[in-house]
Amino acid sequence: MASKNATLTMHDHTLELPIYEATLGPPVVDVSGLSKHDIFTIDPGFMSTAACESKITYIDGDKGVLLYRGYPIDQLADQCDFMEVAYLLLFGELPNTDQKAEFDTNIKHHTLVHEQIYNFFNGFLRGIHPMSILMSAVAALGGFYHDSLDISKPEHRLNSAYRMIAKIPTLAAMCYKYSRGEPYVYPRNELSYSENFLHMLFGTPAEDSDVNPVLARAMDKIFTLHADHEQNASTSAVRVAGSTGANPFACISAGVSALWGPAHGGANEACLKMLEQIGDESRISEYLAKAKDKNDPFRLMGFGHRVYKNYDPRAKVMQATCHEVLNEVGAGDTPLFKLAMKLEKIALEDEYFIERKLYPNVDFYSGITLNAMGIPSTMFTVIFALARTTGWLSHWLEMLSDPSHKIARPRQLYTGATERDVVGLAERG
Ligand code: SDX
Repeated sequence: MASKNATLTMHDHTLELPIYEATLGPPVVDVSGLSKHDIFTIDPGFMSTAACESKITYIDGDKGVLLYRGYPIDQLADQCDFMEVAYLLLFGELPNTDQKAEFDTNIKHHTLVHEQIYNFFNGFLRGIHPMSILMSAVAALGGFYHDSLDISKPEHRLNSAYRMIAKIPTLAAMCYKYSRGEPYVYPRNELSYSENFLHMLFGTPAEDSDVNPVLARAMDKIFTLHADHEQNASTSAVRVAGSTGANPFACISAGVSALWGPAHGGANEACLKMLEQIGDESRISEYLAKAKDKNDPFRLMGFGHRVYKNYDPRAKVMQATCHEVLNEVGAGDTPLFKLAMKLEKIALEDEYFIERKLYPNVDFYSGITLNAMGIPSTMFTVIFALARTTGWLSHWLEMLSDPSHKIARPRQLYTGATERDVVGLAERG
């Protein structure tokens, strides 16, 4: 409900624009009525624009706060498993024991993929980036699961969401196995969501796999930390695709595509490569100089954020999880981790980064952690997409359950040619 109005005076109009208060965070001015007066706003990158109302995730960038349905991310990562967090994001409350058991069962009974999808993978070159395969395989699911694609039906929407959450680890592991020419490993229903993923990733049909519980717990936390992040670029891509009525698998594929960019979900892979490129503490100042040089496209990967102008709360949990994994695999504090800690310390004391409020984000330590688990850097964004699928679906369900939602169709500021007549080819100079 509007609490009070903002006044806009433009041309010969004085317009009263409703201001809506948030339960947390800044209020917003509703500009949707401006088009009736042929007045439009422009905001490239949506730096000052709320695209929707949502109840799922709240970020306070200045305080470094991240809440899923009101619960702080560090508490969820420490006290819940990913299935509890997925239930929370989808339905708004943490599950009780019975609700969790039912949700676990619903997910576990959708983990297999249609056998013909295995043939689908064979069309790809072995060495291509697994994100290419994942975005294609996710979109292809829409061609295999016809019985729940009527998005006007809540039960269809929920069934498709269960299928997508259940199958994304299977497809992600298949991408890894295919890239290595190794046999696929089927999911096992007695394993947890995270154990199952590691089983399909590192297991072999030739023997029962023995998933390390410390690594499974670390992967579970990684899923929780990456599960949602309000209206980020890839979530916005899913909402835009969903607003056209596209099927859920096509919408999630749009999210996978948008996430791949190095400025977004591709940063974890880019961050590890950057650390390997820096190589030694003695070269940190050289790379910090490059990061500050406006003529150099190099950015300090894993640093900075559109919203966080403080420490990304996920980075703190990620750093602790990184320590646990390194100790478990006997890597101790590898040179890469020590280099990351040194780079973080130096950057946080550097005026350029302080002035611009650039802090480590979730990607800064996730790459080192996954690397220590034996996962190649090309799979880092695949794992990010696996986790974010639950967040994307939560937003997709939230949008479609609002009967007033409209197709996303932004306007523009046109500065091109005014109308003119075509000149025949022979007459053109
Ligand atoms: C994710 O949106 C989300 O929520 C995303 C995410 C999620 O969970 O969905 O949190 C996941 O994408 C995390 C971010 C991962 N990306 C990286 O780590 C790549 C490195 N970071 C930068 O590319 C950058 O910080 C962005 C893209 C993340 C944010 O860019 P903005 O908000 O558009 O900020 P900006 O580019 O306008 O930066 C402001 C200033 C600029 O300098 P000035 O023009 O003011 O002199 O800070 C500088 C930038 O040049 N800057 C950096 C920098 N990040 C910003 N300079 C060097 N290194 C960096 N990393």
